[in-house]
Amino acid sequence: MAETVPEPGKWPPVARALERLSAGRRAHVARVAAWMAAWAARSGQDPEAAALAAWAHDLAREWAPAALLAEAARLGWQPDAWETEAPVLLHGPVAAAWLQEWGLGGPAVQEAVRFHTTAAPGVGLLAQALYVADAVEPGRRYSGRGALERLALHDLGQGYRAVLEASAAFYRRRGVRLHPRTLAALAAAGEAEGGRETIERTQRAVRPAGDAAEEWAQLAAATALRHKGEDVRILDMRPVTLVADFFVIVSGRTALQVAALADHIEEALDAAGAHKLARSGQGRAEWVLLDYGSVVVHIFTEAERRYYDLERLWGDAPRLEVAEEPETRN
Ligand SMILES: [Fe+2]
Ligand SMILES: [Fe+2]
Repeated sequence: MAETVPEPGKWPPVARALERLSAGRRAHVARVAAWMAAWAARSGQDPEAAALAAWAHDLAREWAPAALLAEAARLGWQPDAWETEAPVLLHGPVAAAWLQEWGLGGPAVQEAVRFHTTAAPGVGLLAQALYVADAVEPGRRYSGRGALERLALHDLGQGYRAVLEASAAFYRRRGVRLHPRTLAALAAAGEAEGGRETIERTQRAVRPAGDAAEEWAQLAAATALRHKGEDVRILDMRPVTLVADFFVIVSGRTALQVAALADHIEEALDAAGAHKLARSGQGRAEWVLLDYGSVVVHIFTEAERRYYDLERLWGDAPRLEVAEEPETRN
C-alpha cells in the first residue's frame, strides 16, 4: 500500500491522545490508517475522513473498565447491558464523543469510530470500512485474513458482510454473546443482495482445502469413546448455523481427563491431516475447545457441560449417529 497516509498531527488533540497509547496499539492504529488510506484511494472516498477515523478509533482502548464507565457517563452515553458487563465495548462510543467535544470529524467519522467494535445496521461506507480495516489489517493473525482483506478492497459491501460473518462465527464458537447491534448488522447484511453468496464464499475462504469434516467429526468421537469419554455426541450444525459444520461434544470425569481426551483427539486428527486453528482452555481444563474450522470439538467436565448446555443452545441441530468404532485390537 503506497498511498500517503495523512499524519495525525493535523488533529492535535488526537495526536496528543495517541502518544498516551502503548507502542503496540499505536502500531495497530497506524496499520488501520494505512489500510483506510488504500481503501479511500481505490474507492474515491475522502482520505482525510478515512485517516481521522482510523487515528481516533482506539484512543480510549487502553482505559480501565471503571474509567470507561465514568467517562461514558460524563459524555452522556448510557451503557447497555453488554457494555456494562464488558466496559471495553465503550471505547468506540467514548472516542466518538471525544471527537464531538473537540469539534473534529463530521457525523460519518464519528459514526465509524462509535461502531467500530460492534458494527451496527445501516451504517455508512466509512463505518463499514473502519470495521473491516480493524479486523483485516495485516497485524491480525487468523486463517483467511488475506482473503477477507482482498475481498474488502475489491468490494467493501461484500467484505463488510464477510468480516461480520467471520467474526460472529469466531465469537459464537467461543460462547461469547454477540452484542445486539452486531446481530442486527448481521441480519441486515444477510438480507442484502448477495448476502448468502458472500457468506458461502467466506466459509470456503476460511476453511482449509480438502476438508473432510464429517470424517474428522467421526474420528474425534471414536477417539473420545476409545479413551473413555462419556456422552459423546456429534451435532450436524450445517442446517442451523454457519459457525461450523459439526460440533463434537464429549464429557470427561475430571479436568485431568478432559485435558487427556483433548490430547488424544488432537493427536488422532493431526494424524488424519486435519489443520487445527486453535485450542483454548489450556490453563483451566474444564472446557477445552479444539477448533478445526469446519469441526469444533468441545470437551467438558460434566458440570461445565451442563452449565453451558450447548445441546440446548443448538437444539435444532440434528444429531449424527456416532459410528461404531472399527475393531483395531484382538
Ligand atoms: Fe477498537
Ligand atoms: Fe482497533
